[in-house]
Amino acid sequence: MSHPSKVLLDIQQLSVAVSEAHSAIPLVHNVSLQINSGETLAVVGESGSGKTLTFLAALGIAPAGIKVTSGKVLFEGDDLTKLNPNALRTMRGTAISMVFQDPLSALNPVFSIGTQIIEVLRAHLPLTKAQARTRAIELLERVHIPDPHRRIDDYPHQFSGGMRQRALIAMAIALEPKVLIADEPTTALDVTVQAQVLELLSQLREETGMALVLITHDLGLVARHADRVAVFYAGRIVEQAAVQALFHEPRHPYTVSLFRTIPRLDSPTNIALTPIVGQPPNLAKLPAGCPFAPRCYLAKTDCGSLQTTLSDTTSKEHLSACQYWSEVHQEF
Ligand SMILES: Nc1ncnc2c1ncn2[C@@H]1O[C@H](COP(=O)(O)OP(=O)(O)OP(=O)(O)O)[C@@H](O)[C@H]1O
Ligand SMILES: [Mg+2]
Repeated sequence: MSHPSKVLLDIQQLSVAVSEAHSAIPLVHNVSLQINSGETLAVVGESGSGKTLTFLAALGIAPAGIKVTSGKVLFEGDDLTKLNPNALRTMRGTAISMVFQDPLSALNPVFSIGTQIIEVLRAHLPLTKAQARTRAIELLERVHIPDPHRRIDDYPHQFSGGMRQRALIAMAIALEPKVLIADEPTTALDVTVQAQVLELLSQLREETGMALVLITHDLGLVARHADRVAVFYAGRIVEQAAVQALFHEPRHPYTVSLFRTIPRLDSPTNIALTPIVGQPPNLAKLPAGCPFAPRCYLAKTDCGSLQTTLSDTTSKEHLSACQYWSEVHQEF
């Protein structure tokens, strides 16, 4: 990696649960993840695997009823799970910012784009209205909104989907965070717009030196933009590696199964895509051993009973939760 790296956000053994009538259902289990300055970390995994919740919980904004049950979230030495709500609010935006999945619901339809950016700026910085407006126009320019002097007074419905996403990114970077978490920044957008938004995020990361976390389903975007990847399954990380290592030498059968679900540009077009067999796991009733065992093409008899932990493979940069990682090969 070309960046001098320093751990900015250090999630240590984070577990998250939702309280149901008589029990707590674990949704995220023992997730440890470091985000280094200047890097792009991709977080991938099926729908419901805990990608979003891990970060919402880490930032203290998990939905009602969902609690951090153990673990620490260190940001430059402070444990975010111990901060009071005010300190946490200040931290979000200035230190760590999150751009959400759905740009339309993340913007308020009754206020202009400019008003919403100005509000973010003035909530944290001692700016006059005029100064904040100038800064908001600069921000819109930075995210490539055309004619920002005029478009700043538009309402969200007057923006296209891609422009709304850019406006949200402008808001997220307004306070120059050190970490930007982009949660599926592009699902609702068409592919070209998608690629442009990711291009923009990468460009901003390079200009500002901030770290970028990309939560996504799109392995093509991962290959193009990420330095490292964490693969989630059933609320845990099952594999973590540098992007090249993950694509060329995956060490968890789930990662291989994920690859098989996507078309590969460098493969002959006649390769059939294979959906992952079986159902995503029911988090309330996980099997005793490896949670992926019931769907795993490599599973052996002891996989159903032996506890798995994310461990080093041939290096401490490539982690796998599969005890048979050395037998995993990416076959195409
Ligand atoms: N408010 C909630 N109450 C109860 N369970 C929830 C809530 N929000 C999420 N969950 C559960 O937590 C688990 C993880 O959800 P999460 O949203 O983190 O998944 P995800 O990996 O981000 O999926 P997607 O790719 O669809 O965004 C899922 O089983 C989900 O059903
Ligand atoms: Mg999500």
